[in-house]
Amino acid sequence: MIKIALPKGRIAQEALKIFEGYLQSPLDFEDRKLILKKQDFEFMLVRSQDVPVYVERGAADIGIVGLDVLEEKQSRLVRLLDLEFGKCRVAIGSPKNVILDFSKPNLKIATKMENITKAYFSKKAISVDIIKLYGSIELAPLVGMADAIVDLVETGNTLEQNNLKIDAVIMEVSAYLVANSNSFYVQKKEILEIQKYFKNFIKKD
Ligand code: PRP
Repeated sequence: MIKIALPKGRIAQEALKIFEGYLQSPLDFEDRKLILKKQDFEFMLVRSQDVPVYVERGAADIGIVGLDVLEEKQSRLVRLLDLEFGKCRVAIGSPKNVILDFSKPNLKIATKMENITKAYFSKKAISVDIIKLYGSIELAPLVGMADAIVDLVETGNTLEQNNLKIDAVIMEVSAYLVANSNSFYVQKKEILEIQKYFKNFIKKD
């Protein structure tokens, strides 16, 4: 039995399509159900930020999760494959009408990605005051609570509609196939088979 944690939303849909090909069988979660069992597989739907937790603790053997979440959580997981979908960027953004001054003392940065933000600015020896938020990050500079944000940018629509611009890109993100290190040891053959199928699928795409 292989247990697979998928992040709710578009990435789970994309991943399930690939697993349908792998298992030669349709995969549909019923209504509000969070577990789907098919053949020797158990799929679970979790919040994206929680995927590394389920995989690290062995509740799931493998998972699919964005590189941003992996970097933010600094989880010790086996990174099996860059899936090359779910692409977006982690970027610094600020109001279009100001030139962001990185030398401003205690630059206020709103973000849900505290660790990525800390690491980026400390590498550049810039001291920042990080304001941890859980969503709607773009609002913070609009109401004067932050000078800038560090957030995910996919289409750029959210930034655009809130009169924000990109000042710098911190990281290119895509979805990764990851494994629990113990599961990878015990179920290496099965896990490598899945990795291989995904690899071929990406090549064909
Ligand atoms: C994400 C991200 C941005 C937006 C970027 O937010 O935090 O706000 O999507 O996408 P875009 O560049 O295509 O506009 P999400 O929808 O997850 O909402 P939240 O930040 O409020 O949780």
